[in-house]
Amino acid sequence: MRVLHAAAELFPWVKVGGLGDVLGALPQAQRSLGIKARLLLPAYPALKKVFPAASVVGEIGDLLGTGSARFLLDRTPEGVPIYLLDAPYLFDRPGSPYEDAGDSEVRFGALSLGAAWLAKHGDSHHWKPEILHCHDWQTGLAPAYLHYWGGVRPATVMTVHNLAYQGLYSREVLSRLALPDEAFQMAGVEFHGLVNFLKGGLQFADRLTTVSPTYAQEIQGVELGCGLDGLLHHRRQDLVGILNGVDGHVWSPSASPHLPTHYSAQHRSGKMVCKNRLQQEFHLVEAAEAPLFAVVSRLATQKGLDLILANVEHLVGLGAQLALLGAGDPALEAGFHAAAHHHRGRVACRIGYDEALAHRILAGADVLMVPSRFEPCGLTQLYALAYGTLPLVRRTGGLADTVVDVNTTSMDEGKATGFVFEEATAEALGQTLDRACAFFTHRAKDWEKVQVTGMKQDFSWRASAKGYLELYQGLVG
Ligand code: ADP
Ligand code: GLC
Repeated sequence: MRVLHAAAELFPWVKVGGLGDVLGALPQAQRSLGIKARLLLPAYPALKKVFPAASVVGEIGDLLGTGSARFLLDRTPEGVPIYLLDAPYLFDRPGSPYEDAGDSEVRFGALSLGAAWLAKHGDSHHWKPEILHCHDWQTGLAPAYLHYWGGVRPATVMTVHNLAYQGLYSREVLSRLALPDEAFQMAGVEFHGLVNFLKGGLQFADRLTTVSPTYAQEIQGVELGCGLDGLLHHRRQDLVGILNGVDGHVWSPSASPHLPTHYSAQHRSGKMVCKNRLQQEFHLVEAAEAPLFAVVSRLATQKGLDLILANVEHLVGLGAQLALLGAGDPALEAGFHAAAHHHRGRVACRIGYDEALAHRILAGADVLMVPSRFEPCGLTQLYALAYGTLPLVRRTGGLADTVVDVNTTSMDEGKATGFVFEEATAEALGQTLDRACAFFTHRAKDWEKVQVTGMKQDFSWRASAKGYLELYQGLVG
């Protein structure tokens, strides 16, 4: 079975969030199941640098009036074949892949078109996928191109990693993107008078997936449907939620090169060392008895971090500590800076993006907080489980599917892995902080049990890859 994944991020070279992690791990896991998975990404400078010897395997001609484009082919160190869409005018730019220079619609329209083109025509070695698997709005128009071009086409899958980002542009972009006028209708890519990239995929892909079973249900409702709930509900027979996994080669407390020392479920003493070193690094009081809460996150409304800001005093009052790593919303950045300034030795933050520090925090913290308003899957809570750090999460999306709340029943059954709260309010989070601190201070033995249960959870990419295999088999036999 031949599958082409098209996306805009790839760990470790081009990563903004979890999408990069998924593309960095899923194709490899699929290949170990015998699926011939390949990748297609824009030829960003970072990727051209990593794959300088990639060979030309296709010429697409002029790409949406931005000059001629070609496909390059190489292999990742793990052996996954990777195509780069080499369109220098569009992709040869420094900075984040989503930095908007006013032509994002052309960049990702071109990526979508390139994906559709390669999937339809194949490369010069006659490799052609049976399935084009698109990820998020940046590739959402690919199934639409295939639809409007007509003729023979591969099967298509559209995966929604985050429904809140849809790629909305004015009607005029249609002709710029070489889509026909007829695409501008409800049964096409039109959405409240705008062109919606993601809707192209949701409308025209053969199968739709998202990254957890709960989110697959939630997006069919008004509250989290982002205006697309009607369409998603209509297509519910074609929609499935497949949970993401953890790349154990990257996120392992016994092997990560980023940790001061290693530990495992059987030998956990190293975790105390990691905690102490983290307190040093963040200039927090070096107290083993103070529960250390952490955040590693994009600072965006989605993540509910304002609820944490509203609880900083409360947390400090409980004798706890807070360490945060994140970047994004300037108001949140300023808020956490101010909190750290106010509570020196108790609260500390690093504004920025730092992969290695993310590992040290996940290993050194006692609790990782993910109080999201919505969360398609969420990966950091899975990394926390693997690192023996108890996740404290809101019951939504993938968080609801992956964390079992500490209570009498779950403790008796040996299933508890963290703390879960319901309402997206500062009060509800505050009460859960009380619970977590009391559990940490008064039930040390039980805490260890919960840690070990979490560390033994199996959120492997193999299981996800099997889920996708089943889906693909339903499409191409
Ligand atoms: P999302 O994709 O919505 O941002 P996920 O939990 O799925 O959320 O994935 C986030 C990924 O990005 C994780 O690998 C996490 O460690 C990483 N990450 C987020 N913010 C930072 C940061 N400031 N520094 C380093 N890694 C970060
Ligand atoms: C998105 C979601 C996140 C998910 C990630 C990978 O960024 O916000 O919940 O884990 O994609 O699928």
